[in-house]
Amino acid sequence: MTESWVNSAERIGVDLHLELSGSGSRRGALAAALREAVRSGRLSPGTRLPPYRALAADLGVARNTVADAYAELVAEGWLTARQGSGTRVAERTRPPGRTERVPKEAPVRPRGPLHDLRQGTPDASAFPRAAWAAAYRRALTDAPAAAFGPGDPQGRIELRTALTEYLARARGVRTDPGRIVICSGFAHALRLLYGESVLRGPLAVESYGLGFHRSLLDRAGVRTMPLTVDQDGACIEELGGPGKVRGVLLTPAHQFPTGGPLHPGRRAAVVDWARARGGIVVEDDYDGEFRYDRKPVGAVQGLDPERVVYVGSVSKSLSPALRLGWMVLPRHLVADVLEAKGEREAWASGPDQLALAEFLRAGAYDRHVRRMRQRYRARRDRLV
Ligand SMILES: Cc1ncc(COP(=O)(O)O)c(C=O)c1O
Repeated sequence: MTESWVNSAERIGVDLHLELSGSGSRRGALAAALREAVRSGRLSPGTRLPPYRALAADLGVARNTVADAYAELVAEGWLTARQGSGTRVAERTRPPGRTERVPKEAPVRPRGPLHDLRQGTPDASAFPRAAWAAAYRRALTDAPAAAFGPGDPQGRIELRTALTEYLARARGVRTDPGRIVICSGFAHALRLLYGESVLRGPLAVESYGLGFHRSLLDRAGVRTMPLTVDQDGACIEELGGPGKVRGVLLTPAHQFPTGGPLHPGRRAAVVDWARARGGIVVEDDYDGEFRYDRKPVGAVQGLDPERVVYVGSVSKSLSPALRLGWMVLPRHLVADVLEAKGEREAWASGPDQLALAEFLRAGAYDRHVRRMRQRYRARRDRLV
């Protein structure tokens, strides 16, 4: 039995696996294998077969053997041969039992709510397809060949450099590319920090928060202590209470889900607490760019880069499907996070990182955020 992969990419685009079995002639075996492939539907009507020479080379048979087998199937009506369009599977061949696909009518969907007021989901219909595609094209064109090899766990330098500029300008983050580790989003950052024991609990958390993040911490065996949330955000003074915690996870720009910013006095207080106790503040800046009715608040990280782990992602600004995020780390945590990440980048695609770097560099990220801010503000005003 001979087995071969027939790869005839050049002119026909089909990749065909044929088994030439039996002890009879090669021509007979090939004709039988082709007949079987058409009959079973593996070769569908209209498919262009490989040229004689290509198939002969792949199967290790003479060119005439292929020509004869094709001619036999043409004569039987399985194949058609036309000058200029090669040999194709005849249109009327249909495998038994296979019925014509009738386009179904679109399923009737149960009517959802007229307006989806769930928070935290970006408007997926507004994804900047053209600008993203253009940035991707430029990034791919300019990328060195090494960009398509195994990735650096810290992330592409192009992206870390672009983020350094953007985060300083837009969010008041104090960083340089050496402090930044690219990840796939906030959830990934939490896994790296607590699931891999770079940081340990107990961890204070806002008493309201994203359930998914809480269960991630639970699964990592991290004990959490809830902080009361009032109109000024999390009550930082509770950190000094009984039950010593080593860190605090906050959403200072917009408390999730209540939406209010952390009071300036509390921002200063949490940094003072971290300095005094050697604690770490994990800042979830999930949508810091979006503000509608008040002055923008910068990142808490700007108050002390050595005590705050700042985490952001494109999940709210661009799309949660991209899975691209960044951690800005106190210098002493960089090596531990990289060790937790492993030798190779296994989370964030290198080409995607290059595209985001280019998107940021070209100002397309800023333009998109500005546009979305206006759109969301109009919706908010309408709702209010
Ligand atoms: C509170 C909060 N933090 C962070 C995120 C972003 O998560 P990720 O970057 O893993 O997509 C979300 C998204 O739903 C969120 O609600």
